[in-house]
Amino acid sequence: MAKLFTPYTIRGVEFKNRIVMAPMCMYSCHNFDGKVEDWHKIHYATRAVGQVGLIIVEATAVLPEGRISDRDLGIWSDDHVEGLSEIVRLMKQHGAKTGIQIAHAGRKATVEGDIYAPSAIRFNEQYKTPVEMSLAEIRETIDAFKDAAIRAKKAGFDVIELHAAHGYLINEFLSPLANERTDEYGGPSEKRYRFLREIIDSVRSVWDGPLFVRISAEDYADGGMSTSQYIEMVNWMKTQDVDLIDVSSGAVVPAKIDAYPGYQVPFSEQIRKETGIATGAVGLITTGLQAEEILKNERANVVLLARELLRNPYWPYSAAKELGVAIEPPKQYDRGWNF
Ligand SMILES: Cc1cc2nc3c(=O)[nH]c(=O)nc-3n(C[C@H](O)[C@H](O)[C@H](O)COP(=O)(O)O)c2cc1C
Repeated sequence: MAKLFTPYTIRGVEFKNRIVMAPMCMYSCHNFDGKVEDWHKIHYATRAVGQVGLIIVEATAVLPEGRISDRDLGIWSDDHVEGLSEIVRLMKQHGAKTGIQIAHAGRKATVEGDIYAPSAIRFNEQYKTPVEMSLAEIRETIDAFKDAAIRAKKAGFDVIELHAAHGYLINEFLSPLANERTDEYGGPSEKRYRFLREIIDSVRSVWDGPLFVRISAEDYADGGMSTSQYIEMVNWMKTQDVDLIDVSSGAVVPAKIDAYPGYQVPFSEQIRKETGIATGAVGLITTGLQAEEILKNERANVVLLARELLRNPYWPYSAAKELGVAIEPPKQYDRGWNF
């Protein structure tokens, strides 16, 4: 049996296979209100029909000013729960487990008005200069992550992922390239970690389900974070009951990245081996054999696919065929397999 199609259980939640759909912004809230629309219902449910084991819904903003764009999904109000519950219901109907990535865009927000970050340094000329967050604003943002977790639970999600990667707010606190604070939230690694530490503690006080954190394990820039430096922070996350690290990289500062098949897998492997925490590998994973290599060589516990699942929502069927595994299609599609 291919490992890709063996179940994986975290905190009593069983994913039927190790295929995870990575969070991907759909920029499809046409009323700029963060609410689920028909597009989201069809898009996410289709990947569930496609037999993806765990589907992680796109970066969903914990505060309106924390949106990457004004078309992002939101979870900053109780009014968002109904639409999110609907996509959870549709995904579950087809046997997928459901996750949501809760996020704040920090200095990479492109919405109207002020934007916020640990320090008043803009990402590049195309972005606004952010307001340096006060201690009160930091507290409010931590509470917003907690409220988002309460709402995610109400909506019925199985997994919460904190977006601490790609140069968004949490990542900005973690990396010395974006955090020049001199108070208790900046300086040495322990202080740069404090914002994430407090978010994890707040979320964990209301959420006992599987908790993932997505990190950018490499900043690809002098003076930035490397995987080796992240080992210390991941060990802290482990003591705070984080279950899995979703290992991505880059985007905290503009940098050239040499992306090739599996380019981020070594970061996942290093974190898994050196901390013993479960990891997910992501980045240009496109074939069943490639996924199987990663899992069998214990370089990650699950694989996340993004763009390949945009091209082919039924990718799990192709991967199963490639690996010689029979997986059950939905009854309605039987004749596509047994003719
Ligand atoms: C359309 C699109 C939207 C994305 N949105 C998010 C997002 O909301 N959150 C996130 O962490 N990564 C996001 N990503 C990055 C993907 O999750 C993934 O890490 C990246 O595309 C590499 O995987 P791939 O080579 O399988 O596409 C996005 C990528 C794409 C293509």
